[in-house]
Amino acid sequence: CRIAVLVSGRGSNLQAILDSIDAGSLPARIVGVFSDKPGATALQRVAPALRWSADPKAFASREAFDADLADAVAATDPDWVVCAGYLRILGDAFVTRFRGRLLNIHPSLLPKYPGLRTHARALADGETVHGASVHFVIPELDAGSVIAQARVPVEPGDGPDDLAARVLQVEHPLLLAVLRLAATGRLTEQGTTAALDGHGL
Ligand code: GRF
Repeated sequence: CRIAVLVSGRGSNLQAILDSIDAGSLPARIVGVFSDKPGATALQRVAPALRWSADPKAFASREAFDADLADAVAATDPDWVVCAGYLRILGDAFVTRFRGRLLNIHPSLLPKYPGLRTHARALADGETVHGASVHFVIPELDAGSVIAQARVPVEPGDGPDDLAARVLQVEHPLLLAVLRLAATGRLTEQGTTAALDGHGL
């Protein structure tokens, strides 16, 4: 199956996908890596021919940036489009174009803590359990149906960075479990949580 990945930063989730493909445990191919940050470390993880990036500030509007991004993504003919640390909100036109095959990994146990600064907000609320979610993307931010979640404990003395690091460790296997379903035709927006039972997530 053909996977396009949207990234803004370091790309450890992208690396986990690449490693899993290399190891033969994900029957997929990365067909493009797309970024709103031309300097993103994540882009360096794939060959130049697979990279696309542009600075949104160079566009007249959010819609104009999204339209170029959407055309570039569509040109790679992806079966799935995965936001893996993509920090810019996708407009309705983009989401509608790829709906049903557009996934995001979000560092909280949705519906708790949509948006940014999830770890600091969980700590401020005194949460004892936190985690990550993989969900379908719909126009409302971080509100699409959740496919799978992974939980981690919040430890005494944790700061946001400690918690982020602990969550990141479970993000990678979580995302890979969902992508294995996607790559093997077992994932639709109508629901698949049952299919993940037994993955220990
Ligand atoms: C992850 O925590 C992801 O959930 C969040 O941003 C982080 C990206 O990490 N939205 P990386 O770029 O995959 O290393």
